[in-house]
Amino acid sequence: MGQILYLLVSFLILMSLSFEKKCEIVKISPCQTNCKAVKYPRDCSCDKRSIHCEDRNLTYIPRIPCYIKRLHLSHNNINTLGKNEISNLTCSFQTISYMSLRHCKTKRLDEDAFANLTHLKVLDMSANEIFLHGKENVQSVQIAIGSLNRAPLVSLLLDRLRIRNYVQEIFKYFEGRHVTNLSMQENEIMYFNDKVLENFTQLVYLNLRHNWIHKTDLSSGIPTLEWFDLSHNQINIFPPNFCDNETGQTRYNNLKTLVLTGNQIIVPYFKYWDCLKTLETFKLGRNDMEEINQTYTFSNLTSLKTLTLSKMDFSLRKIGKNALQSDSLLCLDLSRNGLNFEDPKKVDNDIFHYLPNLTLLDVSHNEFGTVGTQKLIKLSRLETLIMKHVDLSQLPDEFLGNFPNLKHLDLSRNNIEHFTMNAFQNLTKLKYLNLSDNLISNFPVLNFHPATLMSLETFDFANNYFQCDCEIVKLQTWINDLLSDSNKHDLLSRYPDSYRCYKPQSLYHVLLKDAEPNNCKLDQIVLSVVCSAIICLVFTLVLVVAFFYRWEIKFLIHKMRQERRDGYHPLPHTFEYDTYVAYAEKDSAWVIHDLLKELEEDKFNIYIRDRYSAPGVARCDEIVDNIYKSKTVILVLSKNFMACQWCNYQLNVAQARAVKLGPRFLIPVLLEGIFIKHMNISTQHLFMTSKPIEWARRSTKNKLFWSELKTALDAEIIQEFEDSVYQSFSTRYGSIDT
Ligand SMILES: *[C@@H]1O[C@H](CO)[C@@H](O)[C@H](O)[C@H]1NC(C)=O
Ligand SMILES: *[C@@H]1O[C@H](CO)[C@@H](O)[C@H](O)[C@H]1NC(C)=O
Ligand SMILES: *[C@@H]1O[C@H](CO)[C@@H](O)[C@H](O)[C@H]1NC(C)=O
Ligand SMILES: *[C@@H]1O[C@H](CO)[C@@H](O)[C@H](O)[C@H]1NC(C)=O
Ligand SMILES: *[C@@H]1O[C@H](CO)[C@@H](O)[C@H](O)[C@H]1NC(C)=O
Ligand SMILES: *[C@@H]1O[C@H](CO)[C@@H](O)[C@H](O)[C@H]1NC(C)=O
Ligand SMILES: *[C@@H]1O[C@H](CO)[C@@H](O)[C@H](O)[C@H]1NC(C)=O
Ligand SMILES: *[C@@H]1O[C@H](CO)[C@@H](O)[C@H](O)[C@H]1NC(C)=O
Ligand SMILES: *[C@@H]1O[C@H](CO)[C@@H](O)[C@H](O)[C@H]1NC(C)=O
Ligand SMILES: *[C@@H]1O[C@H](CO)[C@@H](O)[C@H](O)[C@H]1NC(C)=O
Ligand SMILES: *[C@@H]1O[C@H](CO)[C@@H](O)[C@H](O)[C@H]1NC(C)=O
Repeated sequence: MGQILYLLVSFLILMSLSFEKKCEIVKISPCQTNCKAVKYPRDCSCDKRSIHCEDRNLTYIPRIPCYIKRLHLSHNNINTLGKNEISNLTCSFQTISYMSLRHCKTKRLDEDAFANLTHLKVLDMSANEIFLHGKENVQSVQIAIGSLNRAPLVSLLLDRLRIRNYVQEIFKYFEGRHVTNLSMQENEIMYFNDKVLENFTQLVYLNLRHNWIHKTDLSSGIPTLEWFDLSHNQINIFPPNFCDNETGQTRYNNLKTLVLTGNQIIVPYFKYWDCLKTLETFKLGRNDMEEINQTYTFSNLTSLKTLTLSKMDFSLRKIGKNALQSDSLLCLDLSRNGLNFEDPKKVDNDIFHYLPNLTLLDVSHNEFGTVGTQKLIKLSRLETLIMKHVDLSQLPDEFLGNFPNLKHLDLSRNNIEHFTMNAFQNLTKLKYLNLSDNLISNFPVLNFHPATLMSLETFDFANNYFQCDCEIVKLQTWINDLLSDSNKHDLLSRYPDSYRCYKPQSLYHVLLKDAEPNNCKLDQIVLSVVCSAIICLVFTLVLVVAFFYRWEIKFLIHKMRQERRDGYHPLPHTFEYDTYVAYAEKDSAWVIHDLLKELEEDKFNIYIRDRYSAPGVARCDEIVDNIYKSKTVILVLSKNFMACQWCNYQLNVAQARAVKLGPRFLIPVLLEGIFIKHMNISTQHLFMTSKPIEWARRSTKNKLFWSELKTALDAEIIQEFEDSVYQSFSTRYGSIDT
């Protein structure tokens, strides 16, 4: 029993040892099976059921382990492919789903080469030489491909095989029932008739690019096809006809993407594509169209979302009225057409008026100016606008306001010199802004709308012509603030390396971030000194002028306050005189010749002693009586006045009267300067309470004098208790008189 157990254990150990040894060779799990001796070239690598033997100059297909799924054999030297060569795959016949034999210099493909690869899904036979010897090989290729009927082949790549006209025959036995992807690019095919693919009932992607196709017959149709690439062929004058001549229907009922780029189509004959109601992406760039001018060119493509009409700068001369009509279009590429958008004969003014849903527009490498930009303003839904290299020299303030939804704006490589930040005011959703390679010398960045700055993720204004003068400091500060913000520190593209000074000469090519403009502080000091000097000068000038014309100015001000008098001064009935003039005998010449003359001309009623004094009346009474009969008293102050006893008496009486009638009652007139020490107390008091009117002979000051004097005479006098006081006074003195 023990012996049996011992034998069993040792057998098991032995088994597992030999097992491990096998695995050591290949080091992959698929070999842990009962498959025969597994060896494969040392140079190949294996990873998760994929064998990679690319570019090893192999002349045969190496023996591969079992249960391999993917076999990469491209760039080898396998001359012949037949049952024998394939036999090294025997162990994985049931599992291989992907096989690439690209670039293997294969010249012969035997009929039975693929017969046992019943699980193949992807086969890449591209770039081999199986058609090098023409006809003699064709039949075996037909049969070999036909044998793939047993496999669920989804993707067949037959690029660069010089298929040429054999394209009509190679699928003679192949039904292609499962194929979704078929690629036959670079095969020198000249004529393509879609009837050869009539049994490919699942075909979705068909690639025929880079052939020599100049003739097509698409009347059989491929109803499942979604993506058809016919680019870089030689289809000339008219596009391929997808629509039935009579019914106007198509058998390409699911076509979504049609690529006709790089042909020689001259006439965009819409009737040949009108019927493609499912078409979403239409690439027509790099053709030889001269004019796009028909209203229905694209308008019948009711699902069209993306249209490419780029790279026709050698032929395209005109895009006419209504030519770009489409309700559904979202993306339009008109780049590299060298069209002058300024010229309405070349680009119709309405060109963008019938694209209500457009969100992306690329017009790079054309010519724009202010007039050209006006053509875009109806595209209010734009989210992406690419205007690279369009000779734009200015950015009108209102222009971008037309596109409130803009997220991506590329204005690089233009000649923009400056703009105001109002230009970007309403772009609150902007994420990408490229202003690089323009002629901008400084940026009004400080005015960026906060919302714009918030949404912005990429901002490129490298390679501009920065003028590193004192103004640039603001920009440097703004950038530094930006970089210190954790959310925005990577906002600036290519900073700092591509941001360099252009001017002044001394800072040429210095990094913007390192530029320290000279003399900025000095300049400011100089500026402020100059400014204040100018202000001082102007101020002094004003003062001087004001001094020289002080009387004129005073007179003017006085006049302005004054309403014009017309020589009529109603005198309250209680008064007999407008004024009583108190003066020294020695000043009577002035009083009579100047004062009296001037005031009487203005019809003032004036009392002066020399004229009215009644003989025999005591002087004292006369003075008091007449002062009480006057509305005001003019005191003609002079040295003479100071020296005159009677004058002082009159002053005292007047001052006493002023107690009742208010300070306006007294009108001191200063004939000449008087030293304070020469004044008595009453005069000093007078000087304190009322401002004397100064006499002058000079014309303007003289006018001012009269004007002030007359105004003082016209002033209202308070008449409180006037009557009773005067009455009692008069009777009292009257009794004395008699
Ligand atoms: C590849 O193999 C062929 C034939 O075996 C040989 O002539 C050629 O020199 C090899 N090339 C390289 C690069 O090893
Ligand atoms: C099968 O592969 C082995 C090496 O893995 C190689 O020596 C042999 O020549 C191959 N057989 C054929 C028929 O190519
Ligand atoms: C296919 O495989 C079977 C056995 O697995 C073999 O008998 C037959 O010869 C193979 N046929 C080809 C064409 O390799
Ligand atoms: C078919 O082609 C399309 C477009 O080239 C590709 O995305 C897809 O992966 C391919 N499918 C297969 C199975 O190769
Ligand atoms: C498509 O299949 C039918 C029936 O199998 C066959 O008669 C016809 O020749 C095939 N067409 C092509 C182009 O191979
Ligand atoms: C379409 O009609 C034109 C004449 O109107 C004819 O020349 C052409 O061959 C027709 N094409 C097809 C595919 O029927
Ligand atoms: C294209 O549009 C025009 C005008 O709407 C119409 O007359 C014509 O029938 C349309 N063609 C197709 C194929 O829909
Ligand atoms: C429209 O363009 C074609 C060339 O594509 C030209 O022959 C035709 O005269 C143009 N029609 C008008 C109305 O301009
Ligand atoms: C395009 O715009 C029109 C009117 O502006 C609207 O009625 C229509 O639904 C839009 N079509 C698409 C595909 O967005
Ligand atoms: C921004 O929008 C406001 C209100 O919608 C408008 O008044 C203003 O003119 C716009 N500014 C610019 C530069 O377009
Ligand atoms: C901005 O435009 C320039 C020139 O067209 C380009 O080289 C650069 O990569 C763009 N910047 C970004 C951030 O895309």
